[in-house]
Amino acid sequence: SKGEHVRIVEVSPRDGLQNEKGLIPASTKVELIHKLRKAGAECIESGSFVSPKWVPQMKDTAEILRTMRPDSTISHPVLVPNDKGLDLLLKLLEEYGSDKSAWPTDEIALFTAASEQFCKANTNCSIQESLQRLEKVSERALNAGLRVRGYISVVAHCPYQGKVKPEASGEIAEQLLQMGCYEVSLGDTVGSASPSEMREVLAKCLQKTSGKNGGDVSKYAAHCHDTMGTGLANVLALVREGVRSVDAAVGGLGGCPYSPGATGNIDTESVVYGLHAEGYETGIDLEEAAKIGQWISDQVGKQNNSSAGRAILAR
Ligand code: HMG
Ligand code: MG
Repeated sequence: SKGEHVRIVEVSPRDGLQNEKGLIPASTKVELIHKLRKAGAECIESGSFVSPKWVPQMKDTAEILRTMRPDSTISHPVLVPNDKGLDLLLKLLEEYGSDKSAWPTDEIALFTAASEQFCKANTNCSIQESLQRLEKVSERALNAGLRVRGYISVVAHCPYQGKVKPEASGEIAEQLLQMGCYEVSLGDTVGSASPSEMREVLAKCLQKTSGKNGGDVSKYAAHCHDTMGTGLANVLALVREGVRSVDAAVGGLGGCPYSPGATGNIDTESVVYGLHAEGYETGIDLEEAAKIGQWISDQVGKQNNSSAGRAILAR
């Protein structure tokens, strides 16, 4: 209905930058986070505690959390793949004491995949092993007072295996919700899914988890990459099905190191434009988002991948 709120999860500091070859200064990443807050972002994915050998660009995540201005009104989830990643985060949080409002973040994001080969390429283990690993991580994180978000990658297409059965996502979503994720983000990592494929994935998830809290569409988020230009159509299709949480990156920045050729996330600018045009509200200032998209593209030496952003800045 009109005026309904859709939460934008701004992933540019993590998904947007993780694949950049040249090391981007931590100060630039912190400036990006501060600018996104000013533009109205309520949730900003701010880094990853992953292996620096696997994803070198994210190795300064602790420094970013330490140097960004504290603001407990905004969520700053960070990716955590295993116990080691959680250990690093909890050690950092110890510096801030037990008052959660002083913590730079109170949220982690777990990730697994709907195809075996992608799971292996991204996390060096099978789907089942990853879920066992994550169950432990989730339990520890929840006990430490953190909120936990979950990702399923390659819900429709896998760069190694091709078409992925939507039922696979249903099984995994059930387990992620059971281990305490407050939300599961459905990832079209390759950026080539169609709206009906994404709807089918969501339907299988809701079916598999119906009767429990997971049958609830408010437990799902859209994470669409835009390689084939279907990103916004996929987002709007899922929103029409009731999804109210959408991942996006200013400037359409990004790409996954383990999805060769896949381009960035759907750009925040077109998502915000599209949602506002459809009568939803996001709390994001579109003009500001467009400026930030151009600014960060300049910082990383890339063309601005948001056609909506370029159009807004040209008028
Ligand atoms: P592994 O090599 O099997 O790990 O990698 P291991 O446990 O055997 O450890 C090997 C070494 O890594 C050891 O160091 C560990 O200490 C270290 P060494 O003794 O050799 O010096 N290590 C770590 N260091 C820092 N932080 C850690 C950590 N863990 C181990 N957390 C592992 C397994 C999961 C660690 C690795 O595969 C990894 O880091 N993968 C993450 C890859 C990644 O970040 N991918 C991108 C994010 S996911 C994504 O983009 C998709 C998403 O956007 C949704 C979508 O679009 O679909 C979310
Ligand atoms: Mg992604």
